[in-house]
Amino acid sequence: MKPKTINWQEQAKKSAAIEAVKQVKNGFVVGLGSGSTVAYAIQELGRRIKQEKLELLAVPSSYQAFYLANQNRVPITTLDEYPTLDLTIDGADQVEKKTLNMIKGMGGALTREKIVAEASKKLVIIVDETKLTEKLGLNQPVPVEVIPFALALARMRLQKLHGAPEMREGKGKVGPVVTDNGNFILDVHFGKIEDAEKLNMQIKLIPGVVENGLFLNMADIVYVGTRGVVQRLVRQ
Ligand code: 5RP
Repeated sequence: MKPKTINWQEQAKKSAAIEAVKQVKNGFVVGLGSGSTVAYAIQELGRRIKQEKLELLAVPSSYQAFYLANQNRVPITTLDEYPTLDLTIDGADQVEKKTLNMIKGMGGALTREKIVAEASKKLVIIVDETKLTEKLGLNQPVPVEVIPFALALARMRLQKLHGAPEMREGKGKVGPVVTDNGNFILDVHFGKIEDAEKLNMQIKLIPGVVENGLFLNMADIVYVGTRGVVQRLVRQ
């Protein structure tokens, strides 16, 4: 059978993931983000555990990461047992080149991803080059996780902030996407975001909003997979 070939973008994601996993040392407790790029990182962790006898524990940020960790024989623990993590590896939907601020949550796991990231001494992000942007919000909505009871109010308040909220609909299920926390997601189009700090605080003040996808001043290192080598960006 011919080996499976993957396109440049998948290869770029995989290469970035492999670079990031090199940061994981013996005895680490590692946060696992979610998404298709993180899937490569979990695979690589599994490979290192098996082939290099690397010892680690992982805290998954979603059912997806949990099941991938199980499949790849990556041992799982919880934030209750380890409230401080050595490192988290996660993907992103948009990374602002200058600041390394990010928009996350197109996989719907933003709330737990933010918790796991905040619990970590170091946050390492893996993306392919299509995720880099000059300014957050350009062609990219900000996902906002909302308690179902608060949906109408949240929608109105987000519109007041000049956002255009769209309820995220399920694929393979009719009706809204329900997050791992039992909530809904509004994808809010703001266009170019000039003051991300201010917007983050304004969204957080809306009753019923659980979390939003603006991840500001959080990424320590971003590994960017390209058509060539993997670039390493470090937050200044
Ligand atoms: C999930 C996320 C993901 O990290 C983000 O959507 C990137 O995913 P992918 O690696 O599949 O492009 O924030 O909530």
